[in-house]
Amino acid sequence: CGIVGYIGNTDAKEILLRGLEKLEYRGYDSAGIAVLNEEGVHVFKEKGRIANLRESVDLSVEAPIGIGHTRWATHGKPSKVNSHPHQSTTSRFTLVHNGVIENYEQIKKQQLAGVTFVSDTDTEIIVQLVEKFVNEGMEVEAAFRQTLSDLKGSYAIALLDNENPETIYVGKNKSPLLVGLGEGFNVVASDAMAMLSQTDQYVELNDKEVVILTKDGYTILTLDGETVERAPYTAELDASDIEKGTYPHFMLKEIDEQPFVMRNIINKYQNENGKLKLDDDIRKAMTDADRVYIVACGTSYHAGLVGKQLIENIAEIPVEVHIASEFVYNMPLLSKKPLFIFISQSGETADSRAVLVEIKKLGHKALTITNVPGSTLSREANYTLNLYAGPEIAVASTKAYTAQIAVLAILAVDSAHAKGIELDFNPMQELAIVANAMETLCNQKEQMENIAREYLAVSRNCFFIGRSADFYVCLEGALKLKEISYIQAEGFAGGELKHGTIALIEEGTPVIALATQEHVNLSIRGNVKEVAARGAYTCIISMDGMQDEEDRIVLPAVHEYLTPLVSVLPLQLISYYAALHRDCDVDKPRNLAKSVTVE
Ligand code: G6P
Repeated sequence: CGIVGYIGNTDAKEILLRGLEKLEYRGYDSAGIAVLNEEGVHVFKEKGRIANLRESVDLSVEAPIGIGHTRWATHGKPSKVNSHPHQSTTSRFTLVHNGVIENYEQIKKQQLAGVTFVSDTDTEIIVQLVEKFVNEGMEVEAAFRQTLSDLKGSYAIALLDNENPETIYVGKNKSPLLVGLGEGFNVVASDAMAMLSQTDQYVELNDKEVVILTKDGYTILTLDGETVERAPYTAELDASDIEKGTYPHFMLKEIDEQPFVMRNIINKYQNENGKLKLDDDIRKAMTDADRVYIVACGTSYHAGLVGKQLIENIAEIPVEVHIASEFVYNMPLLSKKPLFIFISQSGETADSRAVLVEIKKLGHKALTITNVPGSTLSREANYTLNLYAGPEIAVASTKAYTAQIAVLAILAVDSAHAKGIELDFNPMQELAIVANAMETLCNQKEQMENIAREYLAVSRNCFFIGRSADFYVCLEGALKLKEISYIQAEGFAGGELKHGTIALIEEGTPVIALATQEHVNLSIRGNVKEVAARGAYTCIISMDGMQDEEDRIVLPAVHEYLTPLVSVLPLQLISYYAALHRDCDVDKPRNLAKSVTVE
């Protein structure tokens, strides 16, 4: 979910709606805004996209203060009644919330017995509790702090009080939230992108802090009421980066941006003499570690798998890769000197953050690799490496994945240098070759579109097979296809398919095989024959120097360490076109959110 708030001199509606549109990547099951003027509070909410909400907003209502929310459902199905803002019984208080309140049932029973609830959400108890404390005689600010002290779980909250149109009450724990500062107005948002058109000055909030926001100022308080001083920073985001331009979809734009992202990474991680530029303390943390634990979710996890191969082969440090949501509840036996690497495009994923919190308690060090400097995971880890990929808006990750692999390669080489390992691999030169190869592939869209039409227009499933690094890319290819086209897809190690899953191969089942790894080229081609013999409709994507006549795509040759950076590109494009042919919403697939800030 994402939240926004505005307090100032102009009408808040359009600012809130535009802000929510920028936050739609965080969820789009339902949305709502509430604005406050002399007549009182006006709430508009709708199931579905912000576009639906827009249509339902009464344009004649003008108000200089308001809050808004776009939802990714956790408690309670997506519906108008479950969408935010939520109100207290008397409608005096109106609230939006991102996060999950773990003890809401308990609060309902113990503190709010007798109160009638209209929704199935955990959120409603928050606004009711504020009203209860106020009815008992507390000042609103104290009631707000008391309420937040009673909550267990995660929240980013903005609250309006009908009787005080001068203030928005803001609170945060675990879920991301920023205060933005303007001339004669102030804003609040789940991320800076939402309000970039208003201001580039932001104040970070820590967990368990509240903010009393007026149009001319902000006061940060702890839950105990102690004042906290914190200066703003300038958000270094370019508003034009978050527009689609002439592209029909963000996903296609972001796929096309990958060559530039590679070149950007080369520039950022290289000094004038062409030497790698990484912080000494990151180098030391890597070389001190007896084992690296990579923790991530989704696409970032897949990048981590490639990262394992890079770090083990290049820097000779053992690496384990873990899914964040499993790790925190099923922790492996750790080595004596572990270093944790969190890979996260958004830097906000709650599952990953839960692990970071846990391993910090154990006294271990963490490095976050993220596309969002200043994000929660980046602030809370000891070290950060930036991806420099520019904002990624499409829910299905593309350029962040390739940026993650490129940065992991640079990290691996830097550690190898520090350990005195002789390498016959210059990452910057090789990444430049990758960038050119990506550009060539971006110019072959027609070919990818043909494959999508031929193989995936009507099929209900699809298999991706590969060996070694190709296997990891197959996992990512299958995820891309599932996410945006809803075709059931699986990525498999070429040799493993015959141990069970081959039973699913029927006449015409699409099987896309990657063959970019010289040492397993013959065996993967053998696996292709096995499935073809059982009726599969096969498509081989190979690499220059390893091709065969039957191959559908031959990728330009790149260094063997970096093949995933180019082999993923046709899979991204094939998924894109498959989704397009099936009339799916490419940038905002059903049930998903780009940044999942609940565990
Ligand atoms: C969500 C997104 C995925 C993403 C994953 C991890 O589930 O839908 O596309 O890979 O989160 O996100 P992160 O921001 O931590 O890389």
